[in-house]
Amino acid sequence: MSIDEKKLNDFLGKVVGDVGAAMSAALVVIGDKLGLYKAMAENGPVTPADLARATGTTERYVREWLNAQAASGYVAYDAASGRFILPPEQAFALADDASPAAVPGLFHVTAAMWHGEEKMTENFRTGKGLEWGAQHPCLFEGTERFFRSGYIGNLVSSWLPALDGVAAKLEKGAKVADVGCGLGASTILMAKAFPKSRFVGFDTHDKSIALARERARTSGVADRVTFEVANATDFPGTGYDLVAHFDCLHDMADPVGAARHVKETIAPNGTWMIVEPFSADRPEDNHNPVGRVFYSASTLLCVPHSLANQGPALGAQAGEARLREVVVTGGGFSKFRRATETPFNLVLEARP
Ligand SMILES: C[S@@+](CC[C@H](N)C(=O)[O-])C[C@H]1O[C@@H](n2cnc3c(N)ncnc32)[C@H](O)[C@@H]1O
Repeated sequence: MSIDEKKLNDFLGKVVGDVGAAMSAALVVIGDKLGLYKAMAENGPVTPADLARATGTTERYVREWLNAQAASGYVAYDAASGRFILPPEQAFALADDASPAAVPGLFHVTAAMWHGEEKMTENFRTGKGLEWGAQHPCLFEGTERFFRSGYIGNLVSSWLPALDGVAAKLEKGAKVADVGCGLGASTILMAKAFPKSRFVGFDTHDKSIALARERARTSGVADRVTFEVANATDFPGTGYDLVAHFDCLHDMADPVGAARHVKETIAPNGTWMIVEPFSADRPEDNHNPVGRVFYSASTLLCVPHSLANQGPALGAQAGEARLREVVVTGGGFSKFRRATETPFNLVLEARP
């Protein structure tokens, strides 16, 4: 075997970057939990001692953390003053959960993947699955926080308007089901934007539903939002003007059964919105940085949930053609189209 030294060095350089990122992910979670980024955003340039004082933490740890953050490009360092600065763009992404670019949730999701690693190594041998609800609890809020930023940036301003006639119905007062709603980030955002409409969120995970109910109360939308534990294949109600599946259809054990149930419960002129991770149909077209994130999450979170209930494990990179089969061939919908997309999402519209 002949080794091309340049290719080897290029690869090892990439590995150094990747290992640094993987190790630094734990530091991002710590910075998020302890409010280190938020304190930097509020206080401007800080020394390690300033930041430790402001956050009730230990200067020696904070100094090491800040140097790691500077080496990562997450904070800037002014050597002349010995102060560290969180630039405005990093503050927007790291220190503000209401921002459409908020990223800390994604690092908590990454932590959940490490927590599940031993079980998943064994599952590779046995073929067993791992239910969403059996993952480490940091997954649920991490998922909500990360997806919510995408919803803040897109859902009301561009995804709903991209669907035929849906925004106008929601303005007037419509009946909406948000299936696989998790902690209800999408449900609550829609309820805030369309106060005349009525929303119900369904999810099989009882702890997520309990948190969603709490979020509805604290967000002041409990008068128009309810959350119920129910399966996508048999949730109650009929005559829904809009049924939505946000980033969950590919996780399900019975996506065709879920599609059929939407067909049974949707109003004759209703709309089914399916938001899925962005994906091309051919795997080779997903071999890029975004596909890397989605295939990794899919391996450890999405595929095992579906396999836990003998599902087809569509995976987070199922792609539009495969989803069309589920919706049109399996579910019996007559119309199906890509309404819009972002670099991270496909927004699909189905009509009965
Ligand atoms: C990736 S999370 C997305 C959660 C939420 N839609 C969001 O955008 O934050 C997938 C969700 O689907 C739920 N789920 C999976 N299979 C389900 C099923 N058959 N019926 C209802 N919910 C299901 C999980 O419990 C989990 O909350």
